[in-house]
Amino acid sequence: MIFAVAEYWDRFGFSPENLMERAHEYSKQAYAPYSKFSVGAALLTEEGEVVGGCNVENASYGMSLCAERVAMSNAVLRGCRRPLAIAVASSHPAFCPPCGACRQFLSEFNPDIDVLLSVDGQLAIYRLDSLLPLRFKLDIA
Ligand code: THU
Repeated sequence: MIFAVAEYWDRFGFSPENLMERAHEYSKQAYAPYSKFSVGAALLTEEGEVVGGCNVENASYGMSLCAERVAMSNAVLRGCRRPLAIAVASSHPAFCPPCGACRQFLSEFNPDIDVLLSVDGQLAIYRLDSLLPLRFKLDIA
């Protein structure tokens, strides 16, 4: 867990708490009729823009999309290639760390992205690298 707050928050006049609030807002847009577990993700780009995502489920369960991947894809569409931070929030008071697939997906763009989570009502910041050691990289000559 990282307690030192990165310099970019001041630069953008934005706080980790602000990003977490946005994640909570985005979770209200979730389409989660099957699990009833709504997730929102708020991603901070290098330009200081906040891009959102929510989970989008499907009757064919395996096709469901996680909030983090929706947010990252949304950010790519806007030209973002190196996100700085992502906050994840769920409709439940439960701890909601990104699933393994989302960790790998985010690591493609920034293996050191700050991952903001709400733990027992307290905000915690993890570096993605610590949540996904030995990530898969396509090292081909
Ligand atoms: N979910 C996310 O949106 N992000 C995660 O990192 C884990 C799980 C969603 C997928 C599914 O719609 C619901 O939460 C229950 O698993």
